[in-house]
Amino acid sequence: PTINYILKDGSTRAVDAPAGLSVMEAAIRANIRGIDAECGGCCSCATCHVYVDEAFLDRLPPADDMEQELLEGVTAERRPTSRLSCQLPMSAELDGIIITVPATQA
Ligand code: FES
Repeated sequence: PTINYILKDGSTRAVDAPAGLSVMEAAIRANIRGIDAECGGCCSCATCHVYVDEAFLDRLPPADDMEQELLEGVTAERRPTSRLSCQLPMSAELDGIIITVPATQA
């Protein structure tokens, strides 16, 4: 499935990610700037914060307590579409998902 990242400068990058890979891991592999992922995906740093396109929100697993708590501490504005990208495994259902990188992670 393809992930479309909208970068800080407004440009878009399409990245092919195998199912099971997280939106964070796919970004790191593709050198997408603006997703820092300091903890490496163990849901403890909140520097993998992204905004998910509304059309795809319902197809994602709901944020667990840990993620909710970390989302309260994100540096960029928290929006209803805010998620931690390390908690979003790709699947065929999510093909074409649009992920906006926030202005800052720290
Ligand atoms: Fe640290 Fe997602 S990579 S919380």
